[in-house]
Amino acid sequence: MNSVKHKWDAKDYAENSSAQELWAQELIDKLALQGDEHLLDIGCGDGKITNSIAEKLSNGLVVGIDRSESMLGLAREQFALPNLSFHTMDAAKIDLNEKFDVAFSNAALHWVNDHKAVLEGLKKHLNRNAKILFQMGGHGNASYIIEVMTQLITSKKWKKYYDDFMFPYRFCKTQDYEELLMQAGYEAERVELIPKDMIHENVEGLKGWLRTTWFPYTDQLPETEKEDFLNFVVKKYTNIHPPDSEGRTHVNMVRLEVEARLP
Ligand SMILES: C[S@@+](CC[C@H](N)C(=O)[O-])C[C@H]1O[C@@H](n2cnc3c(N)ncnc32)[C@H](O)[C@@H]1O
Repeated sequence: MNSVKHKWDAKDYAENSSAQELWAQELIDKLALQGDEHLLDIGCGDGKITNSIAEKLSNGLVVGIDRSESMLGLAREQFALPNLSFHTMDAAKIDLNEKFDVAFSNAALHWVNDHKAVLEGLKKHLNRNAKILFQMGGHGNASYIIEVMTQLITSKKWKKYYDDFMFPYRFCKTQDYEELLMQAGYEAERVELIPKDMIHENVEGLKGWLRTTWFPYTDQLPETEKEDFLNFVVKKYTNIHPPDSEGRTHVNMVRLEVEARLP
């Protein structure tokens, strides 16, 4: 949930996020950027997506915000275009001295519980007719992975570690987001749940993605048990959803894509 500050391993994420990167690039194409926009990337993570946007906006400005110091440390170390800056900031408490034409977010906002605060705070930082384009995990996302995780954390072997476990993501329905947009004064243009097949090159790729983005599940465990737990998840999942003939694994993802304007 929002109040829990998760500890990201930025380097591990950077090396295991090719699926998120592919979807981010598709999302960027939908922005049809002109080259001079002032754009905010919310939950920018390790900055590789933010940097690729800044490369397209040679006459514009790009600001990435994220609340993970580890992610922003790597972002600042790697990317230093003059039109690009990064700020440590909670998406639910946006506080910047500038206004934007575009607000963008990829694979981040399902980590935030209080979307009302995100949209209200963002509104104060947008120019008139500004556009927002977000993609995040939506209702039904990764349901088979969650099924396996739930089986394991309630099993005899592991359940002692999960007494205080809280599901870390908010996977909204379209109606939830339409309402949130309307209440915050935005005009919804498209709010859509999009099923997507997440492909990992091999079983190790699946494990890398689980390790780097499903860590709220492994954080509950003693260090010595984490690897074992992940191996169990991968084994159980691939037993039911085996790799394809090329050894690639598939995960049934559902993304919520939100396109709106501030009138
Ligand atoms: C899966 S990463 C996505 C990073 C990047 N957008 C990408 O597409 O590769 C999710 C990011 O959201 C950030 N995040 C989660 N909750 C946040 C919050 N409340 N405020 C700001 N950033 C947040 C995390 O720190 C993390 O860097």
